[in-house]
Amino acid sequence: MSADQDQEKYTCQQVLDVKQWESPGLLSIKVTRNSGFNFIPGQFARIGLPSDQAQPRPDLWRAYSMVSHPDDDYLEFLSVTVPDGQFSPKLAALCPGSDLWVEKVPFGFLTLERFLPAKALWLVSTGTGLSAYLPMLRDTATWEKFEKVIIVHGVRTVLELAYREYLEKLAKNNPQFIYLPVTSREPWPANGGYRGHKGCRVTTAYTEGLLQSETGQPLNPEDARIMLCGNPEMVTEMRALLQEQGFAASRRGNPGTLAVENYW
Ligand SMILES: Cc1cc2nc3c(=O)[nH]c(=O)nc-3n(C[C@H](O)[C@H](O)[C@H](O)COP(=O)(O)OP(=O)(O)OC[C@H]3O[C@@H](n4cnc5c(N)ncnc54)[C@H](O)[C@@H]3O)c2cc1C
Ligand SMILES: NC(=O)c1ccc[n+]([C@@H]2O[C@H](COP(=O)([O-])OP(=O)(O)OC[C@H]3O[C@@H](n4cnc5c(N)ncnc54)[C@H](OP(=O)(O)O)[C@@H]3O)[C@@H](O)[C@H]2O)c1
Repeated sequence: MSADQDQEKYTCQQVLDVKQWESPGLLSIKVTRNSGFNFIPGQFARIGLPSDQAQPRPDLWRAYSMVSHPDDDYLEFLSVTVPDGQFSPKLAALCPGSDLWVEKVPFGFLTLERFLPAKALWLVSTGTGLSAYLPMLRDTATWEKFEKVIIVHGVRTVLELAYREYLEKLAKNNPQFIYLPVTSREPWPANGGYRGHKGCRVTTAYTEGLLQSETGQPLNPEDARIMLCGNPEMVTEMRALLQEQGFAASRRGNPGTLAVENYW
């Protein structure tokens, strides 16, 4: 790192690998990690790129949750390419060796420290909102604090279930973990012994009682803690439904039962 960069808010990292998922426009990108960049699972980085090739410095910045764990010597991000987006098509065009700038400080409060132990931890996401939860699954503290951990991943089609193989394998090998993919525009994939259902959103799956009936896990504020991450409309609607049941965010130092993060 040059002396100039040392004084900047960010460092320049290099792309190590780009993995294209089956769904076009959905990719995971691995980059080198500055040894001084430390974070807590659930936090996000602000990453930057120049807006055009004539511009040597990054002037476009976006938030991306870390998929990788703090112990990894690289950073990994999951990205969906938004047609006409300013940033995500540029990110998708990177290849190994390309530069990607990362702000030195991580951000975000979607972390498990804010919850007291409980029977069930529900990690509900849509689309790339899954990212924030993946490093939590690799923390021993998560498995000590919650008897069951349930990932609910809502996407449009089965091909958009990034990390599906990894999550199915984890569910098979770890009886504390349940993976529930929910597809809205295709029937749900049957997995790990669960039946498929006709397509629906995660909000409908909740109101129709499918989340509880499929997993057999409690979804009440006494026994459960829940995180919501991804599409802001999903977050707003799901939060309202959960608040009716008594779930609440942490306030004035009182640990809550609900935590959320909007991706736009
Ligand atoms: C805290 C936080 C964490 C985030 N983490 C991630 C992440 O891990 N992976 C990721 O791909 N994005 C993530 N985002 C979104 C990301 O910062 C950018 O918005 C996204 O990459 C699109 O950038 P853009 O310039 O191409 O389009 P923008 O101009 O930023 O967005 C244009 C429109 O695209 C849609 N959109 C934006 N982001 C998404 C998305 N992730 N999924 C579906 N539709 C979207 C919205 O309708 C938005 O209005 C995160 C955002 C926040 C605030
Ligand atoms: N996903 C991909 O692989 C992919 C690839 C290339 C480009 N893109 C682009 O990325 C953008 C969207 O990406 P995305 O599909 O990941 O995100 P998304 O539009 O947020 O959809 C993800 C899931 O959230 C659901 N959802 C939307 N609003 C909801 C609400 N209010 N309550 C509950 N659930 C809700 C969707 O259901 P519905 O089906 O009912 O909307 C879908 O199941 C689009 O611009 C798209 O063209 C996506």
